[in-house]
Amino acid sequence: MTHNPQLLRAARQNLATDRMFGVDFVPRCATAAGQAPTVNSNPVIEPKPQRSETPGRNTDQKQAALRELHQRHNAQCPHCTTVTTHTQTVFGEGNPDAQLMFIGEAPGAEEDRTGRPFVGRAGQKLDEIIGAMGLQRSDVFIANVLKSRPPDNRTPLQGEVDACSPYLVEQIRIIEPAVIVTLGGPATKLMLQTAVGITKLRGIWAVFTDPNTGRKTPIMPTFHPAYLLRAYTPDNRRKVWSDMQAVMQKIQS
Ligand code: URA
Repeated sequence: MTHNPQLLRAARQNLATDRMFGVDFVPRCATAAGQAPTVNSNPVIEPKPQRSETPGRNTDQKQAALRELHQRHNAQCPHCTTVTTHTQTVFGEGNPDAQLMFIGEAPGAEEDRTGRPFVGRAGQKLDEIIGAMGLQRSDVFIANVLKSRPPDNRTPLQGEVDACSPYLVEQIRIIEPAVIVTLGGPATKLMLQTAVGITKLRGIWAVFTDPNTGRKTPIMPTFHPAYLLRAYTPDNRRKVWSDMQAVMQKIQS
């Protein structure tokens, strides 16, 4: 039997990552005996990542479009221009050419203080997840449903989401990621326009269709890192890691 050094390296990396996540066993691929598939065995039709039909913006143009959107958001967002309990808005950050975009809920205390998304404890967990995927934070784009911290970190209200989320949709339209990962309930509910809870939706591919352009982006809902920290069980860690493996497979496909 011959060994492919690249595959061996990848297998070793996966094993190390699984250990880091406290995962003893993750079913990864169909066996010779034809057993069930690995990650996300749910029989949904998996959407393919789409590239735009018209030639898209280059990196500089995307960066400029994001800058313009950031300024317009801060000047005009009907939510963020009227709340008074935050220090500053947290627009989102990352690679304007990112293939992978993470969407969280809203800034917390540390994000409000620094103006950057996911820099508190949940952010450290997200960094760990991104690293385990073989990526760096600078490879991806990270944004939130709300761009201002809700008072006492409460869950965003529907009116707040309705007011602020069009700017998130514009961010997605500029970045054109190949895959979106929604972190937790509020982001998943918004992007999937559903009332179904995250526990039922995580690990199952869904699609976001841009209402303006019709562009379809595959979405993988998963648990919010803050939830993972609160409920740090081997089962939850295994689930999140399984979701991220599915994401890596999709990006590479
Ligand atoms: N939680 C979120 O949903 N977003 C952040 O930016 C930080 C914590």
